[in-house]
Order: sequence, then structure tokens, then C-alpha cells
Amino acid sequence: MSEASSKPAVTLSALLGPRGAAITKAMQAAREFLGGHGTAELLGRVGQTIAEVPGVEHLDKRFFQASYRGDVAAPPDDLLTGKGVFYLTEQRKLFLDCTAGHYQVTWGYDHPELTALVREAMGSGVVWDDHSNIPGATVKRLAERLVEVANGRAPAADLREDPNALNTVLLGICTGSVGASSALKLALKHHEVVRPGATPVLVALAGNYHGTDFLAQRMRGMWAGYFGGIECVEVEPNDLRGLCQAFAAHRGRVAAMFAEPILMNREAIVLDAEYLREARRLCDAADALLVIDEIQTGFWCPEVFMFRQYGIVPDVVVVGKGMTSGLHPLSAILYRRRYDRLAQYDAISTNGNAPLAAVAGLGCLGLVEAHREPIGALAQHYVDRLHELAAAAPDRLVGIRGKGLLAGVKFHRVADALEFHRRAIERGLWVRVHAYHEGHSTILTKLALAADRQVADFVVETFHEILKEM
Ligand SMILES: Cc1ncc(COP(=O)(O)O)c(C=O)c1O
Repeated sequence: MSEASSKPAVTLSALLGPRGAAITKAMQAAREFLGGHGTAELLGRVGQTIAEVPGVEHLDKRFFQASYRGDVAAPPDDLLTGKGVFYLTEQRKLFLDCTAGHYQVTWGYDHPELTALVREAMGSGVVWDDHSNIPGATVKRLAERLVEVANGRAPAADLREDPNALNTVLLGICTGSVGASSALKLALKHHEVVRPGATPVLVALAGNYHGTDFLAQRMRGMWAGYFGGIECVEVEPNDLRGLCQAFAAHRGRVAAMFAEPILMNREAIVLDAEYLREARRLCDAADALLVIDEIQTGFWCPEVFMFRQYGIVPDVVVVGKGMTSGLHPLSAILYRRRYDRLAQYDAISTNGNAPLAAVAGLGCLGLVEAHREPIGALAQHYVDRLHELAAAAPDRLVGIRGKGLLAGVKFHRVADALEFHRRAIERGLWVRVHAYHEGHSTILTKLALAADRQVADFVVETFHEILKEM
């Protein structure tokens, strides 16, 4: 450990085991292929097997759990490497990633500016992670910038004192699930103070997804038998009457309402402005917290936070995923100072303070701000093109769901959605399908902000072709 020997103790190829050298060689060739071709050339080869990359035997997932496809016997075909909106699989098939990874790779794979920024930060002495009591410049600056963007003005001293401003940030949390659970805790703490002894009620949208924390999963119907002393109520998105009835039925006990501007777990349903404004009014009247979960929507629109399109100010906003473009998970909750009642270890990830991840967060923010207009224009273009698709195939399609780059193509029949999905994957378009719940029949896309019109057109034109073929 003391003297550096000439031979490194750890190298990627050695760490990957006996096949490591071949695998890293294939990865490097894939990287060169993706880096050496322009968008038009790559689009022309989407779905093809790329012979420029050597075929090697890849590692399988035999030790993975079954739900992560650990029981699949076929040759492994996971991601080999990616660049921008493209990636190559281990079986050397070129894919166009229409969902930005797992909806978190805001700027596509290996974005040149973000990669350079992270390297620069490391070279400048920014450490990967540290103790949350000594967060350092990048984490502090990200907190300040989030406040600035959420409130639409510079974080001067007056913002700190403004009771209505989102002026408090909890950043020492790693994944979105911890962010959402931290928001739940803020709501319950507030409830204990203003309604001591009353059983709290949490109102959430039917089809919500706020991560994998126990209580968040309870809000979507799981683990019901294990919870006492708390009630969870689901309301239908955009059903104003149902929303008012839920608040009336639980008058004096509602602790919080949780909402996502776009329900990416329920066929990309978009909340109406009227509905969210009513939710704001009801929460105000009930002294309940309105929590907007922007883990999906945040950093994917010109305003950074989608709630700003609704003309409301939530009590708590949760961001994660896209904030760091997949470089390292980082989530945050922004809230009004009067709800600041949690102690440090009530909500923390001891490995999520992340000075380097905060650099990625600052970089993503900077890129969104620098590209506001093109992001808005691309989103509009994509939506317009998708509506043409829906108009051209009314017998198959109900219509287009979602907003901007977070878009769903809703089919009349589940079987059609599944068949469309199968054909899209075959053609090298990585899209997802919601067809596993009663009534779900939607193809989901979330184009990375690294996409351009060419890419958006290619996606929609391929969709047209698939529909014609079916
Ligand atoms: C709206 C929403 N909330 C919370 C989460 C949980 O985030 P994570 O997977 O980072 O824990 C997700 C993840 O998809 C999400 O989409």
C-alpha cells in the first residue's frame, strides 16, 4: 500500500475476470464506433448488428434475482456502451434509447460537456463523497441554485426569510426513494404539531409511484396489512370532485397530498392546471402539505421544475433522477422553512452527500439553462409529430399522452401495445410499454435532452412504419 508499484493492483479488464480483456476490447471498439459516426449515420444503422465490434462471450446474470432477469438462459444482451441517445448491446445491436436509460440520463450517455466537467472537478480536488457535516462548495452551491430556480429569482437574503418561498434544501440524500420518504416525514412531523393525536391521512393519485420506501409503497396499495395509525387514500388524477370529496371526507386529518405532474407509472397522464390549483387550495385550507414529486419531470423542461408551468407553489418539491443525468444518484427536497423539523439522521443517505454528484447537478442545471429554447422547441416538435401519428392511425391509437419529451402513445387494445413494443425493440428502438395493469395499453418514451429533431423525426417515422406493418 505504501509504495506505488509499476503494475496497478486494479485494472478494469482484470477486475472483469478471465473474459475481462475481451470484454473491455469490445467495449472500446463500441465506443470508437459510436464516437466515430454522426447522428444520421447511426440512425441509418439502428437495429443492425454492428460488425465493427468484436463478438465476445459476455458475463451472464446467473446470480441476479429472478425479477432482474436472473433466470434468463439466452446469451446476455445487456448494454455494452452508450453515447448520446445511442447504445450498443453485448450482442452488438445498435439501439436508439427512447427512454434515456431508466428515465434518468437527461443528457444521454457520456455527454461530452458533463464528462469533461466531472473530470475537471476531480482534477480540481472535488472529492466523490464525504461526511454530510462538511459538504463543501459544490453541494452548497447546488442548494443555492436549486432555490434560485425553484423560486425564479436570485437567492438573496430576502428569500431565506420569505415564508412562502421554497428556501430550504435537504440534499444529503441519494436516491429518489429517500427523497420521497423524507417528504413524507416532513408531512407527518407537521401533522403531529398542528393536529396532535389525529390519525394522519395521506392523499395520493391512483397509479402513483413515489419510490420503494415502505410508506411510499403503501400509498400505492402495497403492504396495507402492516400499517396502523395512518391512512392512505387514492384519488383519480384530474377528478376534481373526487379530490374535493377526499379532503371533505377526512376533514381535519389530511397531512399531505402527493402528486406527480406526469404519472409516468400510469400511462403518462398529465395533471390539469385546474386540478393542481384545486389541490393547492384544499391543502392550504387543511394546513396539509402539497408535495410535488418531480423526480420524473424535473430537469426535463425549460423551467427545470415542471410545477412552474402550473402557476402554483408546492410546500415540498422532490427532485432526483435527471438532476445528475445518471452520473451518480442524487436527490433533493426543497421546502418552506416552516416545515424544517427533521433531525439530520431522520432523513439521510450517508453515501449520498456527494460533492462530485453535485457538480453533475450544477452541470445539468447549467445545460438546461443554456439550452432552454432548443429544449422547448424540440419538445413541441416531438409532440406535434406524435399527434400526426395519432391522427394517422385512429383505429389503433386512442391518442398521445404526456407532455413534451415525456410522451405516451395510447392504444385501444393492450395486445396492440404489446405487439408494437415487440416490433419497436426488434427495430432497435428502446421504448417501454405499460400493459401490465388493467386498462394499460401505452408505449412510453422519454427522449433525452441530447436528442434533436432528426432523432425525434426518426422515432416518429419508425412508429408510423410499425403501425403500417401491424
Ligand atoms: C415519480 C418518482 N418518484 C420517485 C421515484 C424513486 O426514485 P429512485 O428510483 O431514484 O429511488 C421515481 C423513480 O422512478 C419516480 O419516477
